[in-house]
Amino acid sequence: MPLVGEAPVSHGAARRLTIARLGHKGDGETDDGIFVPLSAPGDQIVAEVDGERASIARIVTPGPDRVDATCPHFGACGGCALQHLSVGFLSDWKREQIATALGQRGLTGIEVAPTRVMPPQSRRRAELHARVTQMGIKIGFLERGSRVIVPMSACDVLTPAILGALDALGVQLEPLLPLHTHVAMHVLDSEHGLDVSLGIPDFALDIRSRQALSAMAAAVDLARLSVNGELIIMRREPVVTIAGVPVVPPPESFLQAVREAEVHMQDLACKALVSTKVVADLFAGIGTFAFALARTAKVHAVEGEQSALDALAAAARRTQGLKPISTERRDLFRRPLLAHELKAFDGVVLNPPRPGAKAQAEALAQSAVPALVYVSCSPASFARDARILVDGGFELKTVTPVDQFLWTPHIEAVGIFERRVKRR
Ligand SMILES: C[S@@+](CC[C@H](N)C(=O)[O-])C[C@H]1O[C@@H](n2cnc3c(N)ncnc32)[C@H](O)[C@@H]1O
Repeated sequence: MPLVGEAPVSHGAARRLTIARLGHKGDGETDDGIFVPLSAPGDQIVAEVDGERASIARIVTPGPDRVDATCPHFGACGGCALQHLSVGFLSDWKREQIATALGQRGLTGIEVAPTRVMPPQSRRRAELHARVTQMGIKIGFLERGSRVIVPMSACDVLTPAILGALDALGVQLEPLLPLHTHVAMHVLDSEHGLDVSLGIPDFALDIRSRQALSAMAAAVDLARLSVNGELIIMRREPVVTIAGVPVVPPPESFLQAVREAEVHMQDLACKALVSTKVVADLFAGIGTFAFALARTAKVHAVEGEQSALDALAAAARRTQGLKPISTERRDLFRRPLLAHELKAFDGVVLNPPRPGAKAQAEALAQSAVPALVYVSCSPASFARDARILVDGGFELKTVTPVDQFLWTPHIEAVGIFERRVKRR
């Protein structure tokens, strides 16, 4: 990151710019539509401009919300794009992203609560990368927009257990991985140790490599190791406790990135659906909302991944004190639960991936479901689907932003909907 007062650059494309705002992807934006990564609103900068993109050559005057990034890798590592902005600014900005997306769909005057910001070093799930070269092994996040790995000596977002294991993992993996091969590395910090899943292109899983990988897992004390979708060794079950229920997630399965965020979102859903008796948990994953709701209501969990449903069902079978939980594998993009099927439920949780749940929102709009909690990771698809629901007779009572991806442009939204116009 260039320092305030560094010598000015003398390239032809250098221009003096003022950053007006942060664009929705987190890059600073000028009033004439030039995007500048790592800039802050109010920054006066000299920048190398190339069309609609520019990079900072020198900061002349920093904007009021610019702070010193604490991570030594900030700027190079693509894991965080916004550590140069104060947490207060970012939480307001993330809240605005949701209000603005709703406003663009004509949904104004909605109560958007202050953002609930999760603590640093709390991200328990990460997609890292590894590559062995003649210089040794690199493990880390990628540089933004590239396949170059930034090795990590520090990280403000990952849990200490993940960060603390990377050196030992590197030492053990280096002799096992093929040279110059880009390896995907999913890591989960479970309650019984790390669960690591490697994607190694063109890697022969023979007896010898399995033995070497198992020895590596023991040397680093992994709970479980999988390679290219195959279990290599499970030394302990990689348990995560969800709403008091111990669950063993399948390798690489979805899990809310930060435990505290999961609890906040469960609390919001449970409060909104407190008087329901039978709830449909749509896009249920391994049961984040199903288990929280099953303390008081019967739950039907619908999800596209069979392995996630198997983990959910196995955990439900082992646990006392839950109301019945049924599961259904279903592609909810192609085959949403239709209005006549939704008659069975007096509450719904909807937690789709980034594209949202347009078809399911349309079916809910046609249904008589009285109460709905929509948990979203995309303000744009959330606002689109909220419009459909409101047009179908729902009222959007409140939205709570939850920031579990600190220093990135990502934000979760928990929307509470109640049916205003009753249907039969
Ligand atoms: C954002 S995650 C939420 C999971 C869960 N509710 C949680 O909080 O852990 C979205 C889930 O939708 C599932 N999914 C993605 N596309 C789907 C589809 N077309 N039909 C059904 N489920 C799908 C994914 O497998 C994933 O479990």
